[in-house]
Amino acid sequence: MNIFQIAEKQASILPEKYRLMSVKELEDRAREIKNRFGNRLFIPGHHYQKDEVIQFADATGDSLKLAQLSQENTEAEYIVFCGVHFMAETADILTSPRQKVILPDMRAGCSMADMADISQTERAWTKLQNMFGDTMLPLTYVNSTAAIKAFVGRHGGATVTSSNAEKMVSWAFEQKPRILFLPDQHLGRNTAYNLGIALREMAVWNPITDQLEYEGDLEDIKVILWKGHCSVHENFTIQNVQEVREQYPDMKIIVHPECRREVVELSDMAGSTNFIIDAIEHSEPGSSWAIGTEMNLVKRIIALHQDKKIISLNPHMCPCLTMNRIDLPHLVWSLEAIGEGESQNLVQVEEPTAAYAKLALDRMLERP
Ligand code: 13P
Ligand code: SF4
Repeated sequence: MNIFQIAEKQASILPEKYRLMSVKELEDRAREIKNRFGNRLFIPGHHYQKDEVIQFADATGDSLKLAQLSQENTEAEYIVFCGVHFMAETADILTSPRQKVILPDMRAGCSMADMADISQTERAWTKLQNMFGDTMLPLTYVNSTAAIKAFVGRHGGATVTSSNAEKMVSWAFEQKPRILFLPDQHLGRNTAYNLGIALREMAVWNPITDQLEYEGDLEDIKVILWKGHCSVHENFTIQNVQEVREQYPDMKIIVHPECRREVVELSDMAGSTNFIIDAIEHSEPGSSWAIGTEMNLVKRIIALHQDKKIISLNPHMCPCLTMNRIDLPHLVWSLEAIGEGESQNLVQVEEPTAAYAKLALDRMLERP
């Protein structure tokens, strides 16, 4: 190994040779490792992954489905997770220590998960407890770090995904009269609103100023929303909705609940990635749709449903940059490392974080 190869390896940087390979060679190599390893290797792929990666996924799904599949899979020695870092952490927490979880590119993070760090959260919790006493239960969207999941688990709370958020928020209100919802204010607000909680009963916790943003009587607050968001879904605007309504009056608008409240309000439907896929699959041929979610998925839905008119709600939308870091060269690099008996880009959640985070995940997964 020369000095550059050693540097690439230590820094977890894709070796140059994979950048130079043709698509055919990369695909052949991926197939060869998959055939060689059979059930010892499992490749889950989130719906937002690129087609060049998804073609090698053993299962595709939204965050909930991929967490369930990780929990059920006791056979695979290697789980090469095609998604982002928090998803790979979840898979590591839910699988046995014998099973290795690998993220093909360690830079595949999530800007939303980064918006709630553990010291901000501990600080917020102390301040909020001074205001509200022991009346709050924390819930976190799975799009959060293992440390945040562990915090939530330690305080009796649970994780939620966009597929089960209403169920989990209802469950939380059976435990305590208030919830702190991390880290996505939009999913929290949209979910609580659907459950009949008025906007004036929701406050926002700003982790930068360390303050509660609310005008009114504190006693009226039922939901405290962490001021985080998805940088992809925030790009869908009221103006996008108005333009589609003007240009295509018969078009249905369907969006992900990570979109702002105003956008969800003006749309026809909102739901998780699985919900969006199902709604379009079960719609009439000839129907027309504007979709407000990540672009790799929108493009795939368009390709699969040539009998329907489908567009992105925002015509200038880009894919999620961090999801897109997983590409065919990184996937093949990870697979070949396994083939050579090396374990690179391992995602390992240390104890006691893993055990507390598992409590939060289990509270969700036992309510399917
Ligand atoms: P779901 O897979 O739960 O729909 O979440 C979308 C998302 O943003 C994943 O990062
Ligand atoms: Fe994070 Fe949004 Fe990308 Fe999902 S789509 S990984 S929430 S930035």
